[in-house]
Amino acid sequence: MFKRLLIGAIVLMVLGFGGFLAFAWRPEIAASQPPAPSSFDPALVARGEILAGAGYCSECHTPKGGRPYSGSRPMVTDFGTIYATNITPDPETGIGKWSEEAFRRALWTGVRRDGAHLLPAFPFDHLTKLSTEDVAALYAYFMTREPVHSVTPENTIPFPLNIRLFQAGWKLLFFTPGRFEPRADKSAEWNRGAYLAEGISHCGACHTPRNLLGAEKASATYGGAFIDNWVAPPLDKSNPSPVPWSRDELYTYLRTGISRYHGSASGPMAPVVHAGLNVVSDADVRAIATYFADVDESAPRAAEEKAAIDHALAADKRGVGPDNDPAAKLYTAACASCHYNGGEINVLRPDLALNSAVNLEDPTNLIRIILFGIDAKEGAPDIVMPAFAHGFSDEDVAQIAAYLRATRTDHPPWQGLVEKVAAIRAQGKTEE
Ligand code: HEC
Ligand code: HEC
Ligand code: HEC
Repeated sequence: MFKRLLIGAIVLMVLGFGGFLAFAWRPEIAASQPPAPSSFDPALVARGEILAGAGYCSECHTPKGGRPYSGSRPMVTDFGTIYATNITPDPETGIGKWSEEAFRRALWTGVRRDGAHLLPAFPFDHLTKLSTEDVAALYAYFMTREPVHSVTPENTIPFPLNIRLFQAGWKLLFFTPGRFEPRADKSAEWNRGAYLAEGISHCGACHTPRNLLGAEKASATYGGAFIDNWVAPPLDKSNPSPVPWSRDELYTYLRTGISRYHGSASGPMAPVVHAGLNVVSDADVRAIATYFADVDESAPRAAEEKAAIDHALAADKRGVGPDNDPAAKLYTAACASCHYNGGEINVLRPDLALNSAVNLEDPTNLIRIILFGIDAKEGAPDIVMPAFAHGFSDEDVAQIAAYLRATRTDHPPWQGLVEKVAAIRAQGKTEE
């Protein structure tokens, strides 16, 4: 009896494994000759160029200081280092032998031309929403780039996670392939914005928290997350900005990199604005703003705006002038020469009471900005937030952060600030 049970169990396991193999296996798509660049319609190529910008393909696929899209750029993840591949049309080391069908399958389902599963570090979970026409435009763009011969290094994901077949299990659990489906109860502009945000521009890849297996939590879309040593704030109504992000402010922020009622795009958000959305049309940036102004429910919360601004204008007066509090003195000497509002909100000197960095539950962004500054390439053009890492001790930075938290917000104080500053100083400025 026991033997029979055992045999039964083994048979089931073999069947199960066989079933998994059958389920996980993908065929190779035959190699094709690289199409002649002249065979593509220039209008399609131009459209592909905009989509490549909107999808920040170069942020991952162009190595620092290297040739466009030639790959080998490392992404350090909790599971090991993953290298973005060479997506130039080089036939040997790039995607020169990929037919449009193979390229489409990669974007829509995360499968390589040879049938191997791709890792979700490649945002196919968003690119799956792209229309056939947009994929064709991207294909035309990449097939007309200069081919670069460059071999991508092996990923350093440990065994058994490096077995690509197992990715099929991950996909089964967390991946919903399929094109974007417009919502009939929303405007055409909203749907356009949602298509861009959820698909090509994959805003959720940074702004949605992930589970232990690295998949975005479907129950917490845009709920805010840690990414590359920064906090990507929530983009839903739990966003901590005192002034709700309206459509106009979202548009201005995404278009110019700075919003008068919020501040500037720095850290990993800087390339989104300046090396991504900058090639996207005004109408499309407005559509993205329309979508997120609905996601964060800013219109019904518009009344919060005036109170928040009045509060900021009043709080500012406290930081300036004679004061015996050492933290206030430090703030006045180091920061208030630039961050004063003088009775009105000025876009070129972000009001710290209104800034998310001061209002977030986690002080990381504020500490990063004080230590490493925001250089001219990031943030708004031509203005600079100086870096204080050299002049200030960990205690100084912690004191200023605690002071701003206490005087600019109604939130509870941050804990363990000095240790946090030391840890972030040790990480260094991680982005370019
Ligand atoms: C967040 C980083 C990131 C972004 C953004 C990104 N990719 Fe990738 N991509 C990767 C990584 C990492 C891989 C390799 C994954 C692996 O090894 O399984 C990859 C793989 C690919 C592949 C498979 C190529 C091959 O040789 O296996 C294609 C095609 C591709 N990306 C195209 C694009 C396009 C087009 C865009 C822009 C719309 C884009 N990627 C944006 C990180 C990224
Ligand atoms: C590569 C990761 C990444 C991607 C992709 C990304 N963001 Fe961000 N975003 C961040 C980080 C990190 C911050 C915080 C930086 C700062 O405050 O300067 C941020 C900040 C923001 C803010 C300001 C929030 C606040 O309260 O201050 C908005 C709005 C925003 N992002 C919208 C978007 C939209 C819309 C998209 C897609 C078009 C997007 N982000 C894509 C990482 C990302
Ligand atoms: C020389 C002028 C100057 C000084 C001094 C200065 N800042 Fe700034 N700060 C700026 C400018 C300009 C920006 C907007 C940067 C940009 O967009 O490039 C900024 C941005 C910021 C931001 C946030 C932005 C965001 O929107 O994400 C914070 C937080 C901040 N500063 C805090 C401080 C603190 C704290 C001090 C003192 C330790 C300080 N600053 C000193 C000029 C200054």
